[in-house]
Amino acid sequence: MPPPWGSLGGAGGAGRRAGGRTLLERVRGILRRARARRRRAAASRLLAGLPGSAPAPVRTVAAALERAMAGTFGPEERGPIDRIEALREELCASGAEVRMEDFGAGSRARGPEARGPGTVVTTVGSVCASASKPRFWCGLLFHLARSARPARCLELGTSLGISSAYIGTALGLNGQGLLVSIEGSPAIAALAREHHRRLGIRTVQVREGRFAEVLAPLLAETGTTDLVFIDGHHDEAATKDYFGRIRPSVPDGGIVVFDDIRWSEGMARAWREIRASAGIAADIDLGDMGVVVLGPDGGRRTRLDLPVS
Ligand SMILES: C[S@@+](CC[C@H](N)C(=O)[O-])C[C@H]1O[C@@H](n2cnc3c(N)ncnc32)[C@H](O)[C@@H]1O
Repeated sequence: MPPPWGSLGGAGGAGRRAGGRTLLERVRGILRRARARRRRAAASRLLAGLPGSAPAPVRTVAAALERAMAGTFGPEERGPIDRIEALREELCASGAEVRMEDFGAGSRARGPEARGPGTVVTTVGSVCASASKPRFWCGLLFHLARSARPARCLELGTSLGISSAYIGTALGLNGQGLLVSIEGSPAIAALAREHHRRLGIRTVQVREGRFAEVLAPLLAETGTTDLVFIDGHHDEAATKDYFGRIRPSVPDGGIVVFDDIRWSEGMARAWREIRASAGIAADIDLGDMGVVVLGPDGGRRTRLDLPVS
Protein backbone atom coordinates (compact mmCIF):
# COMPACT_ATOMS: atom_id res chain seq x y z
CA MET A 1 0.00 0.00 0.00
CA PRO A 2 1.36 3.46 -0.79
CA PRO A 3 2.14 5.74 2.14
CA PRO A 4 -0.75 8.06 3.14
CA TRP A 5 1.10 11.09 1.75
CA GLY A 6 1.39 9.47 -1.68
CA SER A 7 4.43 9.16 -3.90
CA LEU A 8 7.44 11.38 -3.30
CA GLY A 9 8.09 13.81 -6.14
CA GLY A 10 10.31 12.88 -9.04
CA ALA A 11 10.10 9.10 -8.77
CA GLY A 12 7.35 8.61 -11.31
CA GLY A 13 3.75 7.72 -10.42
CA ALA A 14 0.28 8.39 -11.79
CA GLY A 15 0.08 11.04 -14.51
CA ARG A 16 3.82 11.00 -15.15
CA ARG A 17 5.61 9.79 -18.23
CA ALA A 18 8.46 7.38 -17.58
CA GLY A 19 11.47 9.41 -16.44
CA GLY A 20 9.80 12.71 -17.37
CA ARG A 21 7.26 15.33 -16.40
CA THR A 22 3.70 15.75 -17.60
CA LEU A 23 2.93 18.44 -20.18
CA LEU A 24 1.15 20.50 -17.52
CA GLU A 25 4.23 20.36 -15.28
CA ARG A 26 6.43 21.48 -18.18
CA VAL A 27 4.15 24.42 -18.99
CA ARG A 28 4.07 25.43 -15.32
CA GLY A 29 7.87 25.24 -15.27
CA ILE A 30 8.16 27.50 -18.33
CA LEU A 31 5.77 30.07 -16.81
CA ARG A 32 7.59 29.94 -13.46
CA ARG A 33 10.94 30.55 -15.13
CA ALA A 34 9.54 33.44 -17.19
CA ARG A 35 8.15 35.07 -14.03
CA ALA A 36 11.47 34.59 -12.22
CA ARG A 37 13.31 36.27 -15.14
CA ARG A 38 10.99 39.30 -14.99
CA ARG A 39 11.35 39.54 -11.22
CA ARG A 40 15.14 39.24 -11.37
CA ALA A 41 15.32 42.03 -13.95
CA ALA A 42 13.23 44.25 -11.64
CA ALA A 43 15.43 43.33 -8.65
CA SER A 44 18.57 44.20 -10.64
CA ARG A 45 17.17 47.67 -11.39
CA LEU A 46 16.36 48.16 -7.71
CA LEU A 47 19.81 47.02 -6.58
CA ALA A 48 21.46 49.34 -9.10
CA GLY A 49 19.76 52.21 -7.26
CA LEU A 50 21.09 51.12 -3.83
CA PRO A 51 23.06 54.08 -2.41
CA GLY A 52 26.81 53.63 -2.01
CA SER A 53 26.25 54.71 1.60
CA ALA A 54 24.23 51.53 2.33
CA PRO A 55 25.73 49.56 5.24
CA ALA A 56 28.56 47.20 4.26
CA PRO A 57 26.69 43.93 5.07
CA VAL A 58 23.76 45.09 2.93
CA ARG A 59 26.15 45.77 0.03
CA THR A 60 27.64 42.29 0.59
CA VAL A 61 24.22 40.63 0.27
CA ALA A 62 23.31 42.86 -2.70
CA ALA A 63 26.55 41.99 -4.50
CA ALA A 64 25.98 38.26 -3.92
CA LEU A 65 22.44 38.55 -5.23
CA GLU A 66 23.58 40.42 -8.35
CA ARG A 67 26.15 37.70 -9.06
CA ALA A 68 23.59 34.94 -8.49
CA MET A 69 21.14 36.67 -10.82
CA ALA A 70 23.82 37.10 -13.47
CA GLY A 71 24.45 33.35 -13.12
CA THR A 72 28.16 33.79 -13.69
CA PHE A 73 31.11 32.32 -11.87
CA GLY A 74 34.76 33.32 -11.95
CA PRO A 75 37.36 31.19 -13.82
CA GLU A 76 38.48 29.37 -10.65
CA GLU A 77 34.86 28.89 -9.54
CA ARG A 78 33.41 27.40 -12.73
CA GLY A 79 35.11 23.96 -12.56
CA PRO A 80 34.02 23.07 -9.00
CA ILE A 81 30.49 24.40 -9.61
CA ASP A 82 30.17 22.33 -12.81
CA ARG A 83 31.27 19.24 -10.84
CA ILE A 84 28.58 19.84 -8.20
CA GLU A 85 25.95 20.27 -10.90
CA ALA A 86 27.12 17.09 -12.67
CA LEU A 87 26.75 15.25 -9.36
CA ARG A 88 23.26 16.76 -8.88
CA GLU A 89 22.28 15.50 -12.33
CA GLU A 90 23.58 12.01 -11.53
CA LEU A 91 21.75 11.93 -8.17
CA CYS A 92 18.48 13.20 -9.61
CA ALA A 93 18.57 10.36 -12.16
CA SER A 94 19.36 7.70 -9.54
CA GLY A 95 16.82 5.00 -8.73
CA ALA A 96 18.86 3.72 -5.76
CA GLU A 97 16.67 3.18 -2.72
CA VAL A 98 17.25 5.12 0.45
CA ARG A 99 15.48 5.04 3.80
CA MET A 100 14.96 8.43 5.37
CA GLU A 101 13.40 9.65 8.56
CA ASP A 102 10.68 12.22 8.22
CA PHE A 103 10.62 14.76 11.02
CA GLY A 104 7.07 15.95 10.45
CA ALA A 105 6.30 19.40 9.06
CA GLY A 106 8.78 20.71 6.61
CA SER A 107 9.39 17.97 4.12
CA ARG A 108 9.51 19.53 0.65
CA ALA A 109 8.59 16.10 -0.70
CA ARG A 110 5.49 15.63 1.46
CA GLY A 111 4.24 19.21 1.37
CA PRO A 112 3.41 21.77 4.07
CA GLU A 113 0.33 19.91 5.34
CA ALA A 114 2.21 16.67 6.05
CA ARG A 115 2.58 16.11 9.77
CA GLY A 116 3.97 13.46 12.04
CA PRO A 117 7.26 11.60 12.01
CA GLY A 118 7.80 8.40 10.09
CA THR A 119 10.25 6.51 7.93
CA VAL A 120 10.03 6.69 4.17
CA VAL A 121 11.67 4.36 1.67
CA THR A 122 12.28 6.39 -1.44
CA THR A 123 14.91 6.87 -4.15
CA VAL A 124 17.96 9.11 -4.21
CA GLY A 125 16.52 10.68 -7.40
CA SER A 126 13.32 11.59 -5.62
CA VAL A 127 15.14 13.12 -2.64
CA CYS A 128 17.44 15.06 -4.96
CA ALA A 129 14.57 16.48 -7.04
CA SER A 130 12.41 17.43 -4.10
CA ALA A 131 14.86 18.52 -1.39
CA SER A 132 18.01 20.02 -2.94
CA LYS A 133 17.90 23.78 -3.49
CA PRO A 134 18.02 24.65 -7.19
CA ARG A 135 21.16 26.02 -8.81
CA PHE A 136 20.09 29.67 -8.56
CA TRP A 137 19.64 29.59 -4.77
CA CYS A 138 22.78 27.50 -4.24
CA GLY A 139 24.59 30.11 -6.34
CA LEU A 140 23.33 32.82 -4.00
CA LEU A 141 24.63 30.90 -0.96
CA PHE A 142 27.95 30.40 -2.74
CA HIS A 143 28.32 34.11 -3.55
CA LEU A 144 27.25 35.08 -0.01
CA ALA A 145 29.99 32.85 1.38
CA ARG A 146 32.49 34.23 -1.15
CA SER A 147 31.76 37.87 -0.39
CA ALA A 148 31.15 37.65 3.38
CA ARG A 149 34.22 35.40 3.89
CA PRO A 150 32.73 33.74 6.99
CA ALA A 151 34.96 31.83 9.40
CA ARG A 152 32.19 29.60 10.78
CA CYS A 153 29.02 28.58 8.97
CA LEU A 154 26.07 26.48 10.03
CA GLU A 155 23.43 24.71 7.95
CA LEU A 156 20.26 23.10 9.33
CA GLY A 157 19.29 20.41 6.81
CA THR A 158 22.05 18.76 4.76
CA SER A 159 20.02 16.30 2.68
CA LEU A 160 22.28 14.94 -0.10
CA GLY A 161 24.80 17.73 0.45
CA ILE A 162 24.19 19.97 -2.57
CA SER A 163 23.78 23.38 -0.88
CA SER A 164 26.55 22.50 1.59
CA ALA A 165 28.80 21.57 -1.37
CA TYR A 166 28.26 25.08 -2.77
CA ILE A 167 29.02 26.79 0.56
CA GLY A 168 31.95 24.45 1.25
CA THR A 169 33.39 25.15 -2.21
CA ALA A 170 33.19 28.90 -1.57
CA LEU A 171 35.03 28.44 1.74
CA GLY A 172 37.68 26.33 0.01
CA LEU A 173 38.22 29.04 -2.59
CA ASN A 174 38.31 31.69 0.17
CA GLY A 175 41.10 29.70 1.80
CA GLN A 176 39.33 29.90 5.16
CA GLY A 177 36.17 28.83 6.93
CA LEU A 178 34.29 25.74 8.02
CA LEU A 179 30.65 24.73 7.54
CA VAL A 180 28.94 22.39 9.96
CA SER A 181 25.74 20.98 8.47
CA ILE A 182 23.19 19.03 10.53
CA GLU A 183 21.14 16.14 9.14
CA GLY A 184 18.75 13.97 11.11
CA SER A 185 18.49 11.03 8.70
CA PRO A 186 21.54 8.75 9.17
CA ALA A 187 21.40 7.22 5.67
CA ILE A 188 21.09 10.66 4.06
CA ALA A 189 23.93 12.07 6.19
CA ALA A 190 26.15 9.18 5.07
CA LEU A 191 25.33 9.93 1.41
CA ALA A 192 26.11 13.65 1.90
CA ARG A 193 29.52 12.80 3.38
CA GLU A 194 30.22 10.50 0.46
CA HIS A 195 29.23 13.25 -2.03
CA HIS A 196 31.50 15.79 -0.35
CA ARG A 197 34.33 13.25 -0.42
CA ARG A 198 33.77 12.66 -4.14
CA LEU A 199 33.87 16.41 -4.77
CA GLY A 200 37.07 16.76 -2.74
CA ILE A 201 35.39 19.17 -0.30
CA ARG A 202 37.17 19.34 3.05
CA THR A 203 35.46 22.42 4.45
CA VAL A 204 32.17 20.74 5.46
CA GLN A 205 31.42 18.56 8.47
CA VAL A 206 28.10 16.72 8.49
CA ARG A 207 26.72 16.18 12.01
CA GLU A 208 24.05 13.56 12.44
CA GLY A 209 21.06 14.16 14.74
CA ARG A 210 17.92 16.14 15.38
CA PHE A 211 18.42 19.91 15.21
CA ALA A 212 16.90 20.31 18.69
CA GLU A 213 19.46 17.88 20.14
CA VAL A 214 22.59 18.81 18.17
CA LEU A 215 22.31 22.60 18.21
CA ALA A 216 23.09 23.39 21.86
CA PRO A 217 26.32 21.36 22.18
CA LEU A 218 27.41 22.45 18.70
CA LEU A 219 26.92 26.16 19.40
CA ALA A 220 28.74 25.81 22.74
CA GLU A 221 31.63 24.19 20.90
CA THR A 222 31.87 26.63 17.96
CA GLY A 223 31.33 30.00 19.67
CA THR A 224 30.43 32.46 16.92
CA THR A 225 28.72 31.65 13.62
CA ASP A 226 28.98 34.13 10.76
CA LEU A 227 26.69 32.58 8.13
CA VAL A 228 23.66 30.38 8.84
CA PHE A 229 21.34 28.59 6.40
CA ILE A 230 18.14 27.22 7.95
CA ASP A 231 16.71 24.69 5.49
CA GLY A 232 14.83 21.99 7.37
CA HIS A 233 11.83 21.56 9.68
CA HIS A 234 9.80 24.29 8.01
CA ASP A 235 7.47 24.92 10.88
CA GLU A 236 6.57 28.27 12.48
CA ALA A 237 7.40 27.45 16.11
CA ALA A 238 10.49 25.38 15.19
CA THR A 239 11.90 28.09 12.91
CA LYS A 240 11.51 30.78 15.58
CA ASP A 241 12.97 28.44 18.19
CA TYR A 242 16.07 27.59 16.07
CA PHE A 243 16.63 31.26 15.26
CA GLY A 244 16.31 32.16 18.98
CA ARG A 245 18.91 29.53 19.89
CA ILE A 246 21.35 30.43 17.11
CA ARG A 247 21.04 34.20 17.28
CA PRO A 248 23.25 34.80 20.38
CA SER A 249 26.14 33.14 18.53
CA VAL A 250 25.84 35.36 15.43
CA PRO A 251 27.87 38.60 15.67
CA ASP A 252 26.77 41.95 14.23
CA GLY A 253 27.21 41.70 10.47
CA GLY A 254 26.51 37.95 10.56
CA ILE A 255 23.99 36.63 8.03
CA VAL A 256 21.08 34.24 8.61
CA VAL A 257 19.27 32.82 5.57
CA PHE A 258 15.83 31.20 5.92
CA ASP A 259 14.50 28.96 3.22
CA ASP A 260 10.87 28.39 2.27
CA ILE A 261 9.53 31.49 4.00
CA ARG A 262 6.32 31.14 1.98
CA TRP A 263 6.04 27.40 2.49
CA SER A 264 2.98 27.75 4.71
CA GLU A 265 1.03 30.40 6.61
CA GLY A 266 3.06 29.51 9.68
CA MET A 267 6.39 29.96 7.90
CA ALA A 268 5.22 33.33 6.53
CA ARG A 269 4.29 34.42 10.07
CA ALA A 270 7.65 33.22 11.43
CA TRP A 271 9.50 35.22 8.76
CA ARG A 272 7.42 38.38 9.38
CA GLU A 273 8.15 38.13 13.10
CA ILE A 274 11.85 37.42 12.66
CA ARG A 275 12.44 40.23 10.15
CA ALA A 276 10.67 42.71 12.46
CA SER A 277 12.59 41.65 15.59
CA ALA A 278 15.20 43.77 17.35
CA GLY A 279 18.92 43.54 16.60
CA ILE A 280 18.51 43.30 12.83
CA ALA A 281 20.44 45.67 10.56
CA ALA A 282 18.87 44.46 7.32
CA ASP A 283 16.03 42.16 6.35
CA ILE A 284 15.71 41.14 2.73
CA ASP A 285 12.75 39.21 1.37
CA LEU A 286 13.70 37.34 -1.80
CA GLY A 287 10.44 35.46 -2.30
CA ASP A 288 11.38 31.89 -1.41
CA MET A 289 14.21 32.89 0.89
CA GLY A 290 14.56 35.54 3.56
CA VAL A 291 17.91 36.99 4.63
CA VAL A 292 18.63 38.91 7.82
CA VAL A 293 21.87 40.67 8.67
CA LEU A 294 22.29 41.12 12.41
CA GLY A 295 23.19 44.53 13.81
CA PRO A 296 23.10 46.58 16.97
CA ASP A 297 19.73 47.41 18.56
CA GLY A 298 18.45 50.83 17.56
CA GLY A 299 20.91 51.09 14.66
CA ARG A 300 20.08 52.04 11.09
CA ARG A 301 17.84 49.45 9.41
CA THR A 302 17.50 48.48 5.78
CA ARG A 303 14.44 46.61 4.50
CA LEU A 304 14.31 45.27 0.96
CA ASP A 305 11.56 43.34 -0.78
CA LEU A 306 13.06 41.74 -3.86
CA PRO A 307 11.02 38.72 -4.91
CA VAL A 308 13.28 36.92 -7.35
CA SER A 309 11.43 33.58 -7.56
C1 LIG B 1 15.17 20.55 2.39
S1 LIG B 1 16.31 19.36 2.93
C2 LIG B 1 17.86 20.20 2.89
C3 LIG B 1 18.35 20.45 1.49
C4 LIG B 1 19.77 20.96 1.41
N1 LIG B 1 19.98 22.14 2.22
C5 LIG B 1 20.14 21.27 -0.04
O1 LIG B 1 19.58 22.26 -0.56
O2 LIG B 1 20.97 20.55 -0.62
C6 LIG B 1 15.98 19.31 4.65
C7 LIG B 1 16.73 18.21 5.39
O3 LIG B 1 16.57 18.48 6.78
C8 LIG B 1 16.41 17.27 7.48
N2 LIG B 1 15.61 17.60 8.69
C9 LIG B 1 14.36 18.11 8.71
N3 LIG B 1 13.96 18.33 9.99
C10 LIG B 1 15.00 17.95 10.77
C11 LIG B 1 15.21 17.95 12.18
N4 LIG B 1 14.27 18.38 13.04
N5 LIG B 1 16.40 17.51 12.65
C12 LIG B 1 17.37 17.06 11.78
N6 LIG B 1 17.23 17.04 10.43
C13 LIG B 1 16.05 17.48 9.93
C14 LIG B 1 15.69 16.34 6.53
O4 LIG B 1 16.02 14.99 6.81
C15 LIG B 1 16.17 16.82 5.17
O5 LIG B 1 17.21 15.99 4.69
